[in-house]
Amino acid sequence: MFLSVLSTVSLVIGAVVLLIAAYQAFLFLSLFFLILGPDMQLREYKPLVLRDGVPEDDEHIHWALITGSSGGIGFGYAHHLLSLGFGVIILAHVDTEVQDAEARLRTAYPDGSIKGIVLNCQTASISDIEALVASLQDLPVSILINNVGGIPMEFPHFRLFAAYNAQGIDSHYNMNVRFMVHLTRLMLPLLTRNAQPRALILNITSAARFGLPYLSMYSATKAYMTGFSHALTRELKLFKQPVDCLLIIPGDVLSDGNCIGVEPGSPTAMEYAQCVLERVDGAISQGRLEISPFWKHAIQISILGWLPESLTAPELAKVSTLKRDVWAKEQEKKK
Ligand SMILES: NC(=O)c1ccc[n+]([C@@H]2O[C@H](COP(=O)([O-])OP(=O)(O)OC[C@H]3O[C@@H](n4cnc5c(N)ncnc54)[C@H](OP(=O)(O)O)[C@@H]3O)[C@@H](O)[C@H]2O)c1
Repeated sequence: MFLSVLSTVSLVIGAVVLLIAAYQAFLFLSLFFLILGPDMQLREYKPLVLRDGVPEDDEHIHWALITGSSGGIGFGYAHHLLSLGFGVIILAHVDTEVQDAEARLRTAYPDGSIKGIVLNCQTASISDIEALVASLQDLPVSILINNVGGIPMEFPHFRLFAAYNAQGIDSHYNMNVRFMVHLTRLMLPLLTRNAQPRALILNITSAARFGLPYLSMYSATKAYMTGFSHALTRELKLFKQPVDCLLIIPGDVLSDGNCIGVEPGSPTAMEYAQCVLERVDGAISQGRLEISPFWKHAIQISILGWLPESLTAPELAKVSTLKRDVWAKEQEKKK
């Protein structure tokens, strides 16, 4: 009798676990395979009045502010958002690069709404960031992409923590973290006001948040972003705010900033940006805090999350050492 009850209980528990696993697998796979068509993508953030797929007039265009967008993945977001009918605000710190990016986007989208802003996210003061947000008050901005980030110091970028100077530490913090949190704080009222019905914040972290040797400051700032983004998402949900927030975790992407020693099979910046924006709706509807939208990165990140430290540490060290060596060789060639 006791044995038969035990086996029934075990069967029920096994079936429940299997069902949960199958449901999780379905959700995961649907993120990658159930992609909305372009007309439906990001619809919650652009209550456009369309005529033949084109916004009726400028008043109805909703805008996206993308930091660090004259090149790399940020430029890709701008490109794809224009194709979906958004206006885009390109922000970067070299004026000629902003102009060049604007010109390239205008060539691709002659009727697109494009605005360029020159601002150094690493050195911007609080009043600079306030002035930036004040300049956007009359635009219906409903998307903020906190994309700017990198390794803002002289070469070698891959170095032991003991070899950082104070400036190298501060520059990482200023560009990858400080700018993003102040901008988000100041943009929230604007995004809330422009939510018709919703607004969106995308925060771009990195798989480096696991803690890569030779990249301690970059890893640390990307881990900071993770905690910040998760907390903000939960707060916004708790208080039923009309703003969605999602953390994006890229692995290796071939971009202007990451162009040497890139893992074979990695997406280009343009491919990656499209991949992110195509999967946002699915991730938000599943209530996710974060996604790694490129399938190969998603697999790598899931495996890393499961492995014991005795296997994770050598794997991460291998990746960092390889990158450190190819960048060092490249610098040597330039001498
Ligand atoms: N590529 C990857 O493999 C990878 C992997 C993981 C995470 N990520 C993250 O994804 C984001 C984009 O990476 P990415 O590789 O596309 O970068 P990227 O190619 O280096 O592009 C950087 C963009 O940021 C702008 N920028 C640089 N310094 C700036 C500053 N001080 N102020 C304002 N703008 C500045 C650059 O333009 P100007 O020089 O004209 O200002 C450019 O438009 C970053 O947050 C990065 O950490 C990338």
